[in-house]
Amino acid sequence: MSKSRRKHSWRCCALTEAITSLYIHIPFCASKCFYCDFNSYVASEAVRAQYVDDLIGELKNLKRWYSAERSVEPLQTIYVGGGTPTMLSAREFERIAEAIHGQFALASDLEWTVEANPGTTEPDILRAMKEMGVNRVSIGTQTFNETLLLSIGRLHSPEQTRISVERAYAAGIKRVSLDLMLGLPDQTLVDVEDALSQALATGVSHVSAYGLKVEENTPFFSWEKKGFLHLPDEELQVAMYERVRERLIDAGFLHYEVSNYAKPGEESRHNLTYWRNRPYFAAGAGAHGYTGEMRYENMRSLSAYHHACQSGARPIEQEYPVSLQEAMENEMMLGLRLTEGVSDRSFFERFQASIEQVFKPECERLLKLGVLTHRDGVWRIPEQHVEVANEIYAEFVGIHT
Ligand SMILES: C[S@@+](CC[C@H](N)C(=O)[O-])C[C@H]1O[C@@H](n2cnc3c(N)ncnc32)[C@H](O)[C@@H]1O
Ligand code: SF4
Repeated sequence: MSKSRRKHSWRCCALTEAITSLYIHIPFCASKCFYCDFNSYVASEAVRAQYVDDLIGELKNLKRWYSAERSVEPLQTIYVGGGTPTMLSAREFERIAEAIHGQFALASDLEWTVEANPGTTEPDILRAMKEMGVNRVSIGTQTFNETLLLSIGRLHSPEQTRISVERAYAAGIKRVSLDLMLGLPDQTLVDVEDALSQALATGVSHVSAYGLKVEENTPFFSWEKKGFLHLPDEELQVAMYERVRERLIDAGFLHYEVSNYAKPGEESRHNLTYWRNRPYFAAGAGAHGYTGEMRYENMRSLSAYHHACQSGARPIEQEYPVSLQEAMENEMMLGLRLTEGVSDRSFFERFQASIEQVFKPECERLLKLGVLTHRDGVWRIPEQHVEVANEIYAEFVGIHT
């Protein structure tokens, strides 16, 4: 594998590209699910209220800190994730939204998504969201099996998922996505079939189906080490993945990213920003942003974040410049997750270099193995190899140090 150091000057258009996406993190949950290592805390109303003030302070500075001399075009996408954003009161959500409206121009076809947990979708918060411009919700469903929900630490019932979807529609939010999880302890193919039937019955236009990752510092991690978790074997996990794909494609969904399915035109434009390696602002404790020149990660701890915001400082835990090599590797690693793949033309436009030159040995090897294709100027991972996709992406990362 090539370890050559490349001498390109880093003048790709990402540097001058306007930042038109914004991620906002709401780090609160009613309790912690047993598998989850997202930055979220069980906190009092007073702590949540303080956080909203801090976040608004950060939002007011974002453009000044991160867009440098770049022209700031209207935001095309906003994503409010968590944690559980729907734990905010309607007024708190409105205050955050007012700060966004006050700071940014918003595109007329803005996509604005909020993550919602079943059981926290009161009509008043959904109404406030809709009134402030939210037009898409992503509901953390995981499974429709009541016992399984309990065993992974979820607080809601399957019925509450259905109610959340109905309430979103009733509030006028027409684009709804459901998150499902695969490979849960003791989950069967029948559970997955049932989750798909029930998800489809709600009429949603987008489904994400994530394979469980056992993350460090979670109860699942220590239970697995002690041998208490009965995870489906690899064969069953692959069967689940394939069943999801078959059922959703039969129902008219496009499999547009490894874990994501959408009715035509219903893809998450915000998440496409990440996979297409485009820049985005990020605000909130533990949020990660990308300006095109550097990546930054905000402080995870609520008190550290609070103190930084109070003093008007950037609440940064770390930031680092993105080298040309890293940007090109990310372009491949992220872009190959998409069915649309990575095109020679867009890569060349961004980096003034060709994929075949930059990643010559990797491309040759993967093409020969049949786990990468190159047709009509587009590089893709063939569907039958998507399950080994992580190993394929890894080929493109950290090779030019
Ligand atoms: C940002 S999380 C949280 C969304 C929301 N708080 C919820 O749980 O309903 C978005 C999704 O990531 C998925 N997820 C979280 N932790 C995971 C893990 N360890 N492995 C696989 N998927 C995970 C879940 O499907 C979850 O709905
Ligand atoms: S999965 Fe969602 S609800 Fe559960 S702890 Fe993580 S962020 Fe909170």
